[in-house]
Amino acid sequence: MSEYSLPLTRRLRRNRKSSAVREMLAETKLSVSDFVYPVFIMDGENQEETIPSMPGITRKTIDVLLKELEEVTALGILAIAPFPAISDDLKDEKASASYAPDGLVQRAIRKIKERFPNLVIMTDVALDPFSSSGHDGILSESGEILNDETVEVLCKMAVSHGLAGADFVCPSDMMDGRIGAIRDALDAAGLKNTSIMAYSAKYASAYYGPFRDALGSAPKSGDKKTYQMDSANSREALLEVQLDIEEGADAVMVKPAGPYLDVLSNVAEAFDVPVSAYQVSGEYSMIVAAAQNGWLDRKKVVLESLLSIKRAGARFIWTYFAKEAAKYLLEKSEK
Ligand code: PBG
Repeated sequence: MSEYSLPLTRRLRRNRKSSAVREMLAETKLSVSDFVYPVFIMDGENQEETIPSMPGITRKTIDVLLKELEEVTALGILAIAPFPAISDDLKDEKASASYAPDGLVQRAIRKIKERFPNLVIMTDVALDPFSSSGHDGILSESGEILNDETVEVLCKMAVSHGLAGADFVCPSDMMDGRIGAIRDALDAAGLKNTSIMAYSAKYASAYYGPFRDALGSAPKSGDKKTYQMDSANSREALLEVQLDIEEGADAVMVKPAGPYLDVLSNVAEAFDVPVSAYQVSGEYSMIVAAAQNGWLDRKKVVLESLLSIKRAGARFIWTYFAKEAAKYLLEKSEK
């Protein structure tokens, strides 16, 4: 031992001395009610397809999804978000299949609500799975994304989801003025209790790659940089969120999550509406790939990544790990 005494009155390590003490003093705790589980759906019956860039995640028909939802609800997961993979012959320039009353998403919502009335359904409102261009908006002849014409279609789509029984419609398209227009359209259709969760600060991100494989929705030309946000910007996110709240958003989102925790933290500090974050497909695939190689401890990294997103300020988290993380949390509580 040293002959010098360390005159420390504050030893922060005392608060870390055992797992019980650490758990008691933890500032942030994950809970299964934090998770929204995104699912990929397709037309047909009794079919399920793997997605090579997202091991463990599949695209499935509605009947197969209903079986999976038994497990999802039994785990205590409160919310799901269906994303449709549509065959190319249903796609057109104006994404008209997006608001068909008997479209894939609309049918899925009805069937899910019939079997699981308490499961919260959060639907994606954007044209990319339905547009022949693969863009979230309507393209002009010169290749420009037409904002106001797109918003008209988004309104029809949101109303069709609301009428089918969606709890939240979630515009992910990043057109200007869409939240206010959708609020008006929902109210005019008598859907005053349909909530809007705005993808407010959605970045033009390369982390969406595996999702676009899952839906076959990659843009055929160009990129999404004239509507999704520039990764360089943080203050602009506050402006996007502020406008969406003024236009009537009930909740907002920062997306992706892990690489944008600074943005998430700023948004959560500045506003009082519930803020969510989307741990996107690329974040999922990176962890899975590293774990498959034995380079990372999958369980620990999954939980740490989600805890970090919550610590940064997310009230709820969209994650493909929802079921897996729910199981880890259950194991822990049974110990
Ligand atoms: C559609 C949409 C995308 C994601 C969610 N909604 C893709 C995109 O904007 O290109 C990405 C989700 C993920 O990567 O997990 N507008």
